Amino acid sequence: MHFFSNNSLLLTVSVVVIGAFASNATAQTPNVDDIRATPFLGAMFEDRFIAGVAMDARETTGISRDLLLHHFGSITPENHMKPEEIQPSEGIFTFEAADAITKFARDNELQVYGHVLVWHSQTADWMFETADGEPLTESIAHQQILLDRMETHINAVADRYRDDVWAFDVVNEVIDESESDGYRKSRWFEVLGPDYIPQAFRMARAAFGPEVELFINDYSTEVPTKREAYYNLVSGLVAGGVPIDGVGHQLHIKLNTPISDIDASLTRFRDLGLVQAVTELDIALSSTNDEVLTQTPRDRLIRQGYYTRDLLAMLSTHADQIVSLTVWGLHDGRTWLRYWPQDRPFEAPLLFDDDLKPKPAFWGFADPSRLPHNPQGLTIPSMDVSVDGRIEAGWQAMPPVELAPAAGNAPATTFQMRWADGALFLLADVTDSSDTGGDAVEVFIDGFDYALPRTGIATQGVDLVAAETAHGYRIEARFNAETASASTIFDLRVMNGAGNTLSWSDQSHTQSDTLTRQGILTLRDSIRSVQMPATATAPVIDGLIDDLWLTATLTTDVLVSGDDNGAQGTFAVIWDDTHIYVLGTVNDGTLDATSISPWEHDSIEVFISPGNERAGGYAPADGQYRINFENTVTVVRGTDTSPDTVTSATTLIDGGYRVEVAIAVEGLRTGAFIGFDLQVNDAANGARSSVHTWQDETGDSYRDTRNWGMAALGAN
Ligand code: XIL
Repeated sequence: MHFFSNNSLLLTVSVVVIGAFASNATAQTPNVDDIRATPFLGAMFEDRFIAGVAMDARETTGISRDLLLHHFGSITPENHMKPEEIQPSEGIFTFEAADAITKFARDNELQVYGHVLVWHSQTADWMFETADGEPLTESIAHQQILLDRMETHINAVADRYRDDVWAFDVVNEVIDESESDGYRKSRWFEVLGPDYIPQAFRMARAAFGPEVELFINDYSTEVPTKREAYYNLVSGLVAGGVPIDGVGHQLHIKLNTPISDIDASLTRFRDLGLVQAVTELDIALSSTNDEVLTQTPRDRLIRQGYYTRDLLAMLSTHADQIVSLTVWGLHDGRTWLRYWPQDRPFEAPLLFDDDLKPKPAFWGFADPSRLPHNPQGLTIPSMDVSVDGRIEAGWQAMPPVELAPAAGNAPATTFQMRWADGALFLLADVTDSSDTGGDAVEVFIDGFDYALPRTGIATQGVDLVAAETAHGYRIEARFNAETASASTIFDLRVMNGAGNTLSWSDQSHTQSDTLTRQGILTLRDSIRSVQMPATATAPVIDGLIDDLWLTATLTTDVLVSGDDNGAQGTFAVIWDDTHIYVLGTVNDGTLDATSISPWEHDSIEVFISPGNERAGGYAPADGQYRINFENTVTVVRGTDTSPDTVTSATTLIDGGYRVEVAIAVEGLRTGAFIGFDLQVNDAANGARSSVHTWQDETGDSYRDTRNWGMAALGAN
């Protein structure tokens, strides 16, 4: 059998995808007629919320102006109402740039969202200094100076723009969830203490009057721990009668930010009687702040389109509370993320591209039926498989891909893939109670088609075992395949004799004609799995090693970040009906717990996903359990941070420490496969110097369950 090299195939595919994607051959900036022919965002959001955009003078002329006026009903000055711009030195007010924006808004009947009155950033140094340039202290006299300045500033902004704005960010980014009291230790806080926040709202209400909606605003409000700190502050303000109207969620997010986390935050704030707003939306293509793209990947632009579609669907369920959705910039050429946190010339987080043309991210909001096809992707681990009708335990390491029939009678199917040297393996389970003759699973691998009929008669080059099941049939197969490179073009199509068809990636089912809509398999190393013995007697959690602990079998030898000579641990794990027990021994000569962030202490972490869903973000029962060498416990379980599920003891030993821990987990049973991982954090001088894990090498295990290892719950 002949194979093309993967490279030439990939090249062909990407060329075709790009060609197919460009909507017109001459890529030019649209003219005003093109813009007017596009459905406008406000229409899509209907009466749910106002569409807003951050801007400056560049958006008040030319084609940018046309685009802005077509789509948006509200504008936020991106920088021109910030403290350092309005009052660069004490008593010197520079309103020109902001005036130009409010005039533009008046002339064009746009609403204005004001940003921002009290903030630690983009505020001139004089605000926090004496006339001699000495830092203000928390003395009564200095506190009065700063309060007076706050009031003068708020009054000046209000006197000028009271009638132009519908909302204003009164305080911005005041939360620091790693602080025990939840407050960012800004200069405002250092001088005035937490009371500066209610003070700012009271001054703003007095100055702006009742018509202007007064907002608190922050970033990362979707992160569960920050969500709670934010909620604690805001609910306290409401309870204290502080005049606050709205909660702002900046949503400077990434393609891998779980929409369910954002949903949970909007839900968290529902009962406060306040409105909510998305104030600064952008969706970075980079998966971390460190990633610097060397081009703008098409697949990520498409994923961004599906992301905005799903985001809007979720936001719509909160439409009764959300008053506006503001994007942080009109087009990719204007995004601050090209420069922050570092130069990233190919970052593209907004709705329109550098040429002002609508991106998939725009269509996800405006008309999801126009989104380009989204080729599927699947990461598969290596595994030894024998095609013999017996199903190896390792198939349970990950949940199967589910193909649900969109309509009609196509047979529901789940499937999984594994790989080994020179081979791909398939396990497919088809729900199809009637054997109608033409039933088959078809597999497409790098341009080759294989038919795997229900009758089990194999095509050349395939080992196949087909078996009837209670609800249909099961296919186990091995294909000769070039697995030397990391990715493979792949699709799977299920036919039944009645002519109904179901596909994994190419929803037009034309896999035999084209590769362009087929998916990509990414090959990864095997996923570690441990057989976890059951124990009849619970260990006593006292830091001593009882006899029932078996030999330590797991080692955290996977370097995630930092020094590869950093601390590692060996672990024994056992379970009973109610708990998982872990005994860890960490070699670590210097112990440190001085950082304010618990993950920067010398500590171990245990990750447990009883359902092993591997869907991304944490399911309610999924947990991260951290115990530092001083036996300080921090837990994230779903969105709950209570440490009550953990009983632990620590002992200092020669050259390190030992942790013994019992974690209460529900629903454990013999034979189940759970998601499981272990981590060792090494700390020095108040910072984290290395992270090692048993399996997950991504550094994302604290929020993403997909790359954890696995444990099989064994018998006694
Ligand atoms: C950013 C602007 O977009 C940049 O032009 C400026 O250089 C820095 O500030 N959170 C906020 C916004 O509240 O004010 C910030 O805007 C982005 C993060």
